[in-house]
Amino acid sequence: MYNSQLHQQVNAALKRNKIDIAGADNAFYVRMIASAATMQELYNELYARHPAGEQLFHQLIDVVIKAYVARGAALKRKDDEKAALGDWFLSNDITGMSLYVDRFCGNLKNLGNKLDYFEKLGVNFLHLLPIFESPEGESDGGYAVSDFRKVDKRFGTMKDLGTLQQKMIAADMYLMVDIVLNHTSSRHEWAEKAKQGDAKYQDYFYMYDADSPIPEQFERHMPEIFPESSPGNFTFVPECNKWVMTVFHGYQWDLNYTNPAVFVDMVDTVLFYANLGVDILRIDAPIFIWKQLGTICQNLPETHTILRLIKQCVLAATPGMALLAEAIAAPKDIMKYFGTGLFKGKECDFAYNATQMALQWDMLATGTIRVMLGAQHDIAQKPHGATWITYTRCHDDIGLAYDDNIIRMGGFEPYEHRRFLWEYYSGKFPGSPSTGALFSVNPKTGDARISGSLAAMCGLEKASAEKDQPAVETALSKILLMQAHSFFLGGVPMLFYGDELGYTNDYSYLTDPGKSYDNRWMHRPVIDWKKNKLIDKPGTAEQRIFAATQKLISIRRKLPVVADHSNITWLAPYNIHVAGYLRQHNGKQLFCVFNFSAEEAFLTWYAFREHNNELDKVYDHWAEREFTVGSNEKFLIIEPYGFHLFEVV
Ligand code: GLC
Ligand code: GLC
Repeated sequence: MYNSQLHQQVNAALKRNKIDIAGADNAFYVRMIASAATMQELYNELYARHPAGEQLFHQLIDVVIKAYVARGAALKRKDDEKAALGDWFLSNDITGMSLYVDRFCGNLKNLGNKLDYFEKLGVNFLHLLPIFESPEGESDGGYAVSDFRKVDKRFGTMKDLGTLQQKMIAADMYLMVDIVLNHTSSRHEWAEKAKQGDAKYQDYFYMYDADSPIPEQFERHMPEIFPESSPGNFTFVPECNKWVMTVFHGYQWDLNYTNPAVFVDMVDTVLFYANLGVDILRIDAPIFIWKQLGTICQNLPETHTILRLIKQCVLAATPGMALLAEAIAAPKDIMKYFGTGLFKGKECDFAYNATQMALQWDMLATGTIRVMLGAQHDIAQKPHGATWITYTRCHDDIGLAYDDNIIRMGGFEPYEHRRFLWEYYSGKFPGSPSTGALFSVNPKTGDARISGSLAAMCGLEKASAEKDQPAVETALSKILLMQAHSFFLGGVPMLFYGDELGYTNDYSYLTDPGKSYDNRWMHRPVIDWKKNKLIDKPGTAEQRIFAATQKLISIRRKLPVVADHSNITWLAPYNIHVAGYLRQHNGKQLFCVFNFSAEEAFLTWYAFREHNNELDKVYDHWAEREFTVGSNEKFLIIEPYGFHLFEVV
């Protein structure tokens, strides 16, 4: 709601910062006035009663204005271009890859020389896994940040990042980096000061005296994230004789967002990243950012208030940067990160479609779509204008976090079903070709998650070791089936580096004491560019996977109907082994069907005709040939682990 007193305050701040409200900066002025009241309301929901609340709100307004002032002219132009495009990130033209700079090619400079590799594949969007300073050995792959504003020297310098970003702009590529909002490294300056007894910085964390009952009270309700390598949620800090909350590893200290100073500092960092030229900011682990005694401290309402407020600040100062929530939770909880109520579609622009990702693995192991279909009702609630990152693998483990009810609806008993999937992917289940492994097994709750590379979990590692050519063929089909299914669903596909040519597990982490306690490293390969040369050697698995991935990307780019207009309709399950969806927009239709079983699947043509009575011919972009649609009592026969991408012609 409009608030005239606030308007005066904002005007004064704009004046102090020499903003030309009637001239060059008019658009910013309008954005600022339009959102200031919302910013204040959201802020007050959290901090109205904090003694420093009011003063820090003024500081927040200043941070936003200063970020706009600091934004370079080229980025401001890009903001305008993106605004003119509308929801630029819904486009079918964007395909991403997530990678560790050091493991991929050493450093940022080298990465700048690899852009032709991405271009060849069709990737025009890079997620650089954390590149900011992080202590070697206590790094969690860079997710324990000791300086948010300094590139770690292993990767290069801030200047190298700038040079890379310029090259990427010239190549029409988008950039994503992480903001690790939930915690800092125990070696961050704030943590160091807290250790030395500085009360101001102790209040940046959840710190309690050695004999305080509070840590124990929190523990009663908080689940453990890394029960094997880092049990519990608190770590004792001998330097200051206090406990500190550490939900992840003991060296990752949770930031205390009940303190508005923390919030303002972190918004400043968000906007700092925006001004580096980041197109999409990945908000790491947002589900954890607000804590409340007596709760599991995940997905709390205040978390959403924080994200909405961040979104408002970004919209005002640096509007070209989209936000991605890394919310790995049950489907109903994930949806909330797009915003609810008045804020529907006004929180994060992206979330990972983690439910669909895990359910693809469910389909592959069971050979049926029974559980997957049950989740679609929730997934379909995504608001227009927001979108997904779709993927089969990322740098993390796979959690089977979909609701028990969905599993029951599919006709399985939840615990038994999950146990089957764990055994299947860790290769224990008789006949399983997978060489994944269990991650974070918790004997107290019976829970576990799964590690392993795409190719390894599809059976390529085992088949190659056993020189079993038919099994190699099956593994290749599975890899492509998984990729194709995730590419056309709607959302931006995000490849995980190495998967474009079928890297199997990398066991070198076992000899590195900074990594050996965490088997997620098995699917984070060190790229061997000699091996990558095989993408040009016809007939090799590397070449076949690369060429097929390249083809899937180029098909996707040709078909605007694949852009995310929230235009997906699932085909009725006439065959329980076949996942099928229809994408339609502006009179165009694309039917995508995928056989998740090891046998040929027969699918009645009625499954298609029911969505289009006139259907006669369809063109399969994958097989590159036309099919005549049979009568209702005839069947399309889909190869084992095969798929079709039928455009209605
Ligand atoms: C996110 C990251 C994961 C990390 C965790 C803690 O889930 O993806 O790799 O361990 O946050 O920062
Ligand atoms: C975070 C992520 C989850 C992951 C975990 C450890 O909790 O949200 O996906 O399993 O970190 O990797």
